[in-house]
Amino acid sequence: MSARKRTVVLISGRGSNMTALIAAASNLDYPAEIVGVISDRANAAGLGIAAARGIATKVISRADYTSKEAHDGAIDAALVSFGVEIVALAGYMRILGARFVEKWLGRMINIHPALLPAFKGLDTHARAIRAGIRIHGCTVHFVTLDMDDGPIIAQAAVPVMVGDSEDMLAARVLKAEHRLYPLALGLVAEGKARMEGGRTVLAHFADDADNSSSVVMAPDPLREETDLEHLARITP
Ligand code: GRF
Repeated sequence: MSARKRTVVLISGRGSNMTALIAAASNLDYPAEIVGVISDRANAAGLGIAAARGIATKVISRADYTSKEAHDGAIDAALVSFGVEIVALAGYMRILGARFVEKWLGRMINIHPALLPAFKGLDTHARAIRAGIRIHGCTVHFVTLDMDDGPIIAQAAVPVMVGDSEDMLAARVLKAEHRLYPLALGLVAEGKARMEGGRTVLAHFADDADNSSSVVMAPDPLREETDLEHLARITP
């Protein structure tokens, strides 16, 4: 197998997606290797998790730099010192400047907790519930200058259930995120998903022809509450 792509994960907090990427990369057949984790917050819970798994960590706080550009520059220098090939944002809560984004264009990806281009920005689950959508999910995309706007690499859909609270929906989406992000990073690391002319080109694989009639439905008609009386009336 060709060399695994050196990947650094940028976080600001919990780090559950980072943990999913580290777990996937602990398999030596996985095409990316997590060589470091950078956080802009010293108290990010993900830092301890990464360190416990033997991954190098670095805190680069905004407060230690006089400008946003200087902060971005420090992150860039750290990435270069890690010999990075792919940057994976996982709950990194700062908007990166144009210069930084342009430098890493096509090599930096992000996970967003909604089916883009719907619900860019924050509070995606509450907004999804308010909008009354029946199918929600998450997206991994290349990072471009506009927030949550880059070419889509992969998406996963989950149903919005009757009576869902924001937390219930967030938990269902998060589980899907933990499966989707390793898949998407793997595609990028293998060169099966790449950014070209402002779009994602998916190459070297085809969707299974058997899926031509597949459909994701919510509410799922098969899971309708069974009306036993009705069933008794029609059952011979
Ligand atoms: C995730 O929902 C991710 O989609 C969003 O921020 C959250 C980060 O969670 N960008 P975690 O730090 O990966 O647990």
